[in-house]
Parts: sequence; C-alpha cells; structure tokens
Amino acid sequence: MKISDFGVEQWMNKYETKAKYNLGETCVSPFSLHTLLETVGVDETQFMTKLLNKRLTYGAIEGATELKKEIAQLYRPALTPGEIVTEHGAIGANNLVLNTVVEPGDEVVVVTPTYQQLQSIPEALGATVKLLQLRPANHYLPAVQELKSLVNAKTKLIILNNPDNPSGALMMADELRPIIDVARSVNAYVLSDEVYRHLTQTDTYSPSIIDLYEKGISTSSFSKVFSLAGLRLGWIATHDQGLMKQLLAHRDYATISCGVLDEMVGTLALQHREEILKRNRQIIRQNLTILEKWVNSEPHISWLKPQAGTTTLLHYDFPLASTEFCDRLMKEHQTLLVPGSCFDIEGTVRIGYAFESEHLKAGLAQVSDFLKELEN
Ligand SMILES: Cc1ncc(COP(=O)(O)O)c(C=O)c1O
Repeated sequence: MKISDFGVEQWMNKYETKAKYNLGETCVSPFSLHTLLETVGVDETQFMTKLLNKRLTYGAIEGATELKKEIAQLYRPALTPGEIVTEHGAIGANNLVLNTVVEPGDEVVVVTPTYQQLQSIPEALGATVKLLQLRPANHYLPAVQELKSLVNAKTKLIILNNPDNPSGALMMADELRPIIDVARSVNAYVLSDEVYRHLTQTDTYSPSIIDLYEKGISTSSFSKVFSLAGLRLGWIATHDQGLMKQLLAHRDYATISCGVLDEMVGTLALQHREEILKRNRQIIRQNLTILEKWVNSEPHISWLKPQAGTTTLLHYDFPLASTEFCDRLMKEHQTLLVPGSCFDIEGTVRIGYAFESEHLKAGLAQVSDFLKELEN
C-alpha cells in the first residue's frame, strides 16, 4: 500500500535530537515517574512496590477496566467502560478507526491543516478525500457552507482535530453543532482527534464530539494533556456499539493489549487529573503570555492567537519558503521550528510553546536574531 511521507514526523526525526532549542515539541513538559508522583502527592515507595510486583503478562485485551473507568470521566455525561477501547497512543487509535471505517470508494472529508495521518491514511486506503481548508480569515474554523458542499450520500466520515494542531483553534459546542447537523444529514461518522482537549486558555469545559453526536468518535491519549507520551497509551471512545464491535475485530490483528505498566501509570495519572491539568494549564497559559509578548515585538511576525492546545502558526512576511526558513534557523541557530509546508500553509512556521518557559524564551531570542539577519 502506497502512502505519502509524514512531513512533520520526518522533520522532527531529522532535527529534534540536534536542536539546542526545540520549539517543535507538542507535549506539555513531560513527567518522569518521579516528578509525576511528586506532582500528584503519591508515596513513591508504595507505588514502586506495586509496579515492581506487577506480573508482566498481557494486559486486559480491551484495556484495563480501572483505566477505562477513569477515561470515562473525561466525557459528559461520563461513559461506560464498554464505550472505550485503549490503543498505542492517539496515533494507534486514529489508525485503528481509519482502517476499520474507511473502505475504497468511500468519500471522506478532512478538515485541514491537521495531523497528516488523518488525511494520508484515508487516501492510502483508496477513499476519495475532500479537503476542507481552514483559513486565518475564518479564525482557522471550518466554514459550514463549504462543508455542506463537500458531503453527499457517499460521505462515510468527516475528520476533525479539535483543538487543532497546528493552529490552536478550538471548536466549542456552538461551532460543533452545525458540523454535526451536516454529518447527520448524510449519516456520516465524525472522527475528532481530541489529543489536545482540556488544554484550554480558559477554565470552561470543552465538549467532546461524543458528548454531542451519536455517531461521533473521539480519539485521545496521555501524550499531550497528561505529559506522558512515553507511555504510548491512548484510546478511542464511541457510543456506537456496532462500530465498537468492528473496532475490536480489527484491533485483534494489530494490538492484543496495551502494556500493563503503562496502564498502571495512566490510571494513577487520571485519578489525579485535576492536579495534572492545573499544572499543565498553568504552563501553557504562562508560556502563551511570553509568546504573545514576543509576537507583538516582532514586526515581521503575525498570528491568530491560539485558544487551546500547545501549538500555533506564526506567519512571517519574508519571501522565503518555510522549509528554507526552518532549515537555516536550525543550521545557523540550532533552533527547531516546523515549516508550514508540512501543513500546506506556506509563509508560516509552527511553534510548540508548552515546554519550560526559560527554554521558550531562549529559543525565541534565537528566532529574533535570525529575523534580524533576514532583514539585511
Ligand atoms: C493531533 C495529533 N494527533 C495524534 C498525535 C499522536 O499522539 P500520540 O503520542 O498519542 O500517539 C499527535 C502528536 O503530535 C497529534 O498532534
């Protein structure tokens, strides 16, 4: 099966270990086990004794029930464990949904720019993929009239990423409902990759697609919101039991189970989700203030301030391809940004701002030096 190169993953693979200032990272500052236990106030010896004694057999096939009970609480109304299945990260969750739902000849509408997996896998599976372009003029939110013109009886699936990577745009219930109306009119599923949900700039609850739509499918993980990407643990949630049955049938061929140690740590993290969310929201809010101040001080940079997530697009006004911009920034200043070309939006770069504030400031100072050099 032919598939396009995954632009962002290949860019990160090329540069992330070489960068002195990595402003391409999308996870909120990752925990070690030590800092996780410290943050949630759990006794290290007690937890480590449990971990050391855990027998390393397969985990529960469909995901540990205690873990799924905790994941269920991230939705409103809360789900039952049978509406959730665990996977290897959100990337595994998306992969399973797409391989289960999409068949050759289906039509799929993908809201883009997005995480490329969500577009390239349906294309590789032989679907007709129609792109709904997010534009700065519409605050990187989908234009519903355009969506209407893209769907028909053959539309099997509409794919969102909410909050959006790269733009940081957020759709709340008022923005989601008209999209759901369109999906319902053609009986299509809506897959929403919600890997950044809960990482909002205000404290209001941002709804999941499955809070609002019976044919909604939510994917998410521990990587971004809970700073535990190393667990490689994610999940799919859906109310549709027919779909769940199909997901499980496909999953038997690729997953067996998730790791038992990962599930133990994940369960603990979710039992303390409020403490972790408090830490992580504080990091993204504090860092966005730093980033905003920097953007306002740079005459060649403009943006749409993000509402949620850990990334945003910076628009620059030099006549320079984004790949060249980022290549030179890396070579001359050891600073990593992701070129907008990875998202088909030239004249932009994607920045991640959820790392340590000092690291962000030092990296931005390098970008400032580079922008001055470009002026000359
Ligand atoms: C929108 C989106 N979905 C999925 C993923 C994959 O996340 P995970 O680490 O949970 O596999 C990423 C990672 O960058 C992402 O940005």
